[in-house]
Amino acid sequence: MAVTFVLLLVITFAVVDSKVYDRCELARELKHVHEFPSQQIPTWVCIAKHESTFNTSAINPGSGDHGLFQISDLFWCSPPGNGFACNAPCSAFEDDDITDDIACIRRIFKEHTFLSGNGFNAWTVYPLYCAGDVSKYVEGCFDNDIDNNISQGTIQQPHSTTSEPDDEESVYEFPPLPTPPKKIKSNAVEQSNKPSSFQPVTTTRKPFKLRLQNQISTAEKILKTTSKPFEISHNIIEKYFATLFYFIEYLRY
Ligand SMILES: *[C@@H]1O[C@H](CO)[C@@H](O)[C@H](O)[C@H]1NC(C)=O
Ligand SMILES: *[C@@H]1O[C@H](CO)[C@@H](O)[C@H](O)[C@H]1NC(C)=O
Repeated sequence: MAVTFVLLLVITFAVVDSKVYDRCELARELKHVHEFPSQQIPTWVCIAKHESTFNTSAINPGSGDHGLFQISDLFWCSPPGNGFACNAPCSAFEDDDITDDIACIRRIFKEHTFLSGNGFNAWTVYPLYCAGDVSKYVEGCFDNDIDNNISQGTIQQPHSTTSEPDDEESVYEFPPLPTPPKKIKSNAVEQSNKPSSFQPVTTTRKPFKLRLQNQISTAEKILKTTSKPFEISHNIIEKYFATLFYFIEYLRY
């Protein structure tokens, strides 16, 4: 029994093969097997280099990232974690077969293209190491013609931000990211920052009935002092309607 268990354990570990890619090996595989656009390849190689140093079994237990491209279990795989968007266990991203990793990074890329206009923004190493000239990551990996083309392709914004995601794949809703804690402000600052709607409504306006009386008496005065009733000025009409309005309001009140 114990022997069987140990055997199973050995088999389990044997199945999860790890592999450390050579830089050009990865570049060629991305190009020829997975058919990534040429101009993206240096960036993907750069990301793999800085995320996992090309180790397909790399795990970051702190952040919950898995494999060559350090796919996060916050969003994309589980178990562990709660990610589900790539519909795979995270262990699938820790073996030496990167086919499923590639499917997942395509998805991540697409979602983040939709979100930010540049899918590579999903990787924290991207702005740090891979957003500039990344041609050195594929240097000497391809024959000159392709090499030149690839090297020239320092990454443009990969796709238009307005492109709709494919119909067959539903749009994945990101769970809200934890927000960094706010700086604690002093009470005084907090108070003054409060929207004014929280403050009690104070008004310098006269009570309603008093305003009404004022309006009516003003209108009366105007009417009395106007000797020619048919030459009622615009001003008087305005006052008259204001009075009428207040009177109607008064009745409703
Ligand atoms: C690859 O990563 C795994 C998991 O972190 C580690 O055990 C292994 O030693 C690494 N391989 C190399 C060659 O660094
Ligand atoms: C290099 O790029 C040009 C234009 O961008 C294209 O016509 C040509 O086919 C490319 N060459 C290779 C080998 O991909």
